[in-house]
Amino acid sequence: MNRGFTPKAMRMLESHFRDVAVSLIDEALETGEIDFVDKVSAELPLIAIAELVGIPVEDRRKVFDWSNTMIGSTDPDFNQDPNAPMIASMELYAYSNELALQRKAEPKDDIITTLISEHDGDVLSEHEFDLFMLLLAVAGNETTRNGISHGTLAMIEHPDQWAKLKADTSLVTSAVEEILRWGTPVNNFARTAVCDVELHGITIKEGETVSMLYPSANRDEAVFSNPDTFDITRNPNPHVTFGGGGPHFCLGANLARLEMRILFEEMAKRVDSIELTGEVRKLRSSFIHGIKTLPVRLRPAK
Ligand code: HEM
Repeated sequence: MNRGFTPKAMRMLESHFRDVAVSLIDEALETGEIDFVDKVSAELPLIAIAELVGIPVEDRRKVFDWSNTMIGSTDPDFNQDPNAPMIASMELYAYSNELALQRKAEPKDDIITTLISEHDGDVLSEHEFDLFMLLLAVAGNETTRNGISHGTLAMIEHPDQWAKLKADTSLVTSAVEEILRWGTPVNNFARTAVCDVELHGITIKEGETVSMLYPSANRDEAVFSNPDTFDITRNPNPHVTFGGGGPHFCLGANLARLEMRILFEEMAKRVDSIELTGEVRKLRSSFIHGIKTLPVRLRPAK
């Protein structure tokens, strides 16, 4: 049963993700002009989450379509039918339950097997399992996809920062943190006060809901010097892109960081220039800061 990764398993995982990233970039270089979202940003997180969770990799586009339909519920490109998000979630539940049945018959070293197993005498109900799968499948692909797309767009718009990363790929760790701050793929989450609380001189009453606006916090001039400057060497960079801490802090923060570090490191080594060839289309959503299409031409490094 999978109860976490040993350092050796982590190294193997990193090397596998690197192979996937390299093949995506090389294919994109060969094709020349591509929609970066479709061919690169979406693919790495989908493959990673499918393999870790135990979803057959050849089914990853089903997860892509379901999450687009659910997250894009306010975007006319994805949803003409108001029932579409509900239908997508039902389809994902039915699909997940089938995978659970398969794992009951034949357990594997994956997250589905862990989720359906007994832990300290407790086991998830079918509904809890379905919701867990929905959270992992959607949170695990949509957010990282947008992080990669925002980072690529930021590099196109700031060629000096792209040149800096290419000249010194050891900057990739701080570059990814700055991309996460700059792009902030999740716009908001909410909290409900369980008692009266005072924050910065404002009283929030018990039962009141507070919306946490991450893009605003990530451009707070009281926290960041020159917050509207994209600086891949920014240090410290106390962004709240994965939440502000506490029990709900993003479960996949380290996975997302790993995927983004690998992708931007390999891009910096293999790609000379990234040129925009068409319109960047953003997702209409108050929840996700998403990029639907990013048409680019990649030129190989000499
Ligand atoms: C760049 C990529 C990502 C961003 C920006 C992001 C952002 C967030 C944010 C803002 C939260 C809410 C934190 C809070 O309420 O305090 C969250 C929660 C969560 N994220 Fe992520 N996330 C990313 C990637 C991932 C990945 C790859 C996974 C899965 C493998 C994942 C799984 C989750 C889960 C399960 C939660 C709920 C945690 C809880 O409520 O206990 N996320 N994420």
